[in-house]
Amino acid sequence: MKVLVLGGGGREHALVWKLKQSPRVDEVFCAPGNAGIAQEATCLPCDLTRLDSIIEAVLKVGPDLVVVGPEVPLTLGTVDELRRRGISVFGPTQAAAQLESSKSFSKAFMTRHRIPTARYAQVHAVSEIKDALAHFSAPIVVKADGLAAGKGVVIAATKEEAVATATAMLQGSLGEAGYNILFEEFLQGEEISFLVISDGERVAPLVPAQDHKRIGDGDTGPNTGGMGAYSTAGLIDDNMREWLLRHVARPVIAGMAAEGTPYTGILYCGLMMTARGPQVLEFNCRFGDPEAQPILMRLESDLLEAFEASIEGRISDGIFRWSPEPSVCVVMASHGYPGKYESGKCISGLERANALDGVKVFHAGTSLVSGEMATAGGRVLGVTARGADLEAAVARAYEAVQCISFDGMQYRTDIAHRRLKR
Ligand code: AMP
Ligand code: GLY
Repeated sequence: MKVLVLGGGGREHALVWKLKQSPRVDEVFCAPGNAGIAQEATCLPCDLTRLDSIIEAVLKVGPDLVVVGPEVPLTLGTVDELRRRGISVFGPTQAAAQLESSKSFSKAFMTRHRIPTARYAQVHAVSEIKDALAHFSAPIVVKADGLAAGKGVVIAATKEEAVATATAMLQGSLGEAGYNILFEEFLQGEEISFLVISDGERVAPLVPAQDHKRIGDGDTGPNTGGMGAYSTAGLIDDNMREWLLRHVARPVIAGMAAEGTPYTGILYCGLMMTARGPQVLEFNCRFGDPEAQPILMRLESDLLEAFEASIEGRISDGIFRWSPEPSVCVVMASHGYPGKYESGKCISGLERANALDGVKVFHAGTSLVSGEMATAGGRVLGVTARGADLEAAVARAYEAVQCISFDGMQYRTDIAHRRLKR
């Protein structure tokens, strides 16, 4: 079989790596991919923000299966268009992907289906801000309705800051994404990424993971796309998994089906584990990045089989088999990230890191510069390791990180700290 993965980050490298292990996959392609992916798959150019460019890449490859990595191609309707052309594709339709692309859709949907989430108010105009805020006390979460590449959520410490942030968003500071906004009650607790796969009717859970969104150790500094993640059974117990399936994942899938927009693909439930129980912060319509890296490192069964089961309506409890061993991914980023960052820095030590037992270095922003591996993005590498226990996995990941070097590299030294302390 010929498989085409759309995307070019660490998540897509992990998808390519795992799909290549399937005995039924002969050839993997990736569009656009990156320099690390190019060592394992055939990469071809593609602008993922344009449906015509995506279709062109798909037609060039002629794959038996297309796997969509990131959210933007999903919201453009890639799955709808490929299905229309009779091409097999893993992921949700444009209408189903609204669970991620529109926060107002997602919040109204959760309200309709009694899925636990923070109280909210929707605002379309500056003149509505004052009335909407009357029902909230600080801190207040301000969210742009649309996709804003991680910049769409602000935790305002005071009402005045909430007014200022909301006004700026409504006046276009984030472009179209902020023309509608939401105020949300601030929730406190630990964040968990709970992912399931669905065929539109049934769901099967993946192993849980935890992201580290802030740039700095001890969860300090600005938010990023994710500076590291880990997966271990200890993140949620069996009872909690059952609860989340019963009160979140299954109601979402049943609700989407009942509303005529059945959801197939990976459903990522971003949860806050609060004192009053788990609350949904957001849905993503895809694997998380960097969560995909540690999650897929624990997968022992065939990922292709699971994708096919989702497409063909055959999802069952046994679709995934997982290693009990925990896994950790440490992201190595460029100087300046998440702001303006430097590129073109030579990367050394990759071979030595990859040679360590249980270690795989996934590439995100890398490119070849006159034959040398160099940095080409904010997040550069996802150094991922498995171990007999979490301590061992963390130690291995950091041993691999120590092997690697590039100018201005930055990474967190405390990935998995919440579980290691216990
Ligand atoms: P979202 O894109 O909605 O997941 O928001 C991005 C991040 O903002 C989340 O991962 C949380 O860290 C934080 N966040 C979002 N909503 C809330 C909330 N209601 N209370 C506290 N933190 C939140
Ligand atoms: N790591 C969070 C995300 O992929 O959205």
